[in-house]
Amino acid sequence: MGERPVEAVAQKLGMIYEGKAKQVYATSDPDLVIFYFKDDATAFNAKKRGTIEKKGIVNNRMSEAFFLLLEGAGVRTHFVRRLSEREMLCRRLEIIPLETVVRNLVAGSLAKRLGRSEGEPFKQPVVEFYFKSDPLDDPMVLPAHAIAFGWASAEEVARLESLALKVNAVLRDFLDARGVTLVDFKLEFGRYHGEILLGDEICPDTCRLWDKATGEKLDKDRFRRDLGGVEEGYREALARVLS
Ligand code: TMP
Repeated sequence: MGERPVEAVAQKLGMIYEGKAKQVYATSDPDLVIFYFKDDATAFNAKKRGTIEKKGIVNNRMSEAFFLLLEGAGVRTHFVRRLSEREMLCRRLEIIPLETVVRNLVAGSLAKRLGRSEGEPFKQPVVEFYFKSDPLDDPMVLPAHAIAFGWASAEEVARLESLALKVNAVLRDFLDARGVTLVDFKLEFGRYHGEILLGDEICPDTCRLWDKATGEKLDKDRFRRDLGGVEEGYREALARVLS
């Protein structure tokens, strides 16, 4: 039966949230919001700031491609439709205050914390949770903390872990076929009418993407570590995803 297109009546209203890389606008439909992707880049909890030209356009386009791919694989997401170069219409989630990180290879904070080499393989992917808190610099937490503090129920935490591993399997295979290694990435989930949906964005800000042949970094580490060629890295990552 002809379900009304969700966006048909959604008019953009005022900004309800501004983050480091995105703005979120209310719409006339209480179930929908509009994301606006900025070029602003921060790292180390905004101690480092800059601009990556056209980043917002790349992140919006890449997130769209990944959300469509994941929906096709049976993972429900907040994505409704890309509205413009920098705007995406999304379902309005009650965000769970956890960042879910999946790692396929050692890199970044894990390499540092455990004194391992970047690129070292694991026996199996690793899922980690971080509590979303700017004043605390997003500390790593155990599932038990999330449950004990009431950030998510035991069932929800188990669901986040299994969804994160599913997302990993889908994205890793997709990127591998395009000559890109998915080293690690961060996801955010939220509640929507009794369901857990994948939210936020999936892009070079939130993933480590290495060229399979050369090991070249095609992600935000180029900005974090002052490697140069930041815009080029983002552009190449998008070209691979769209190829
Ligand atoms: P990490 O190695 O710094 O812990 O990062 C793991 C992954 O999470 C990496 O792909 C980058 C992503 N990430 C974010 O999306 N936001 C953040 O604030 C941080 C610290 C990492």
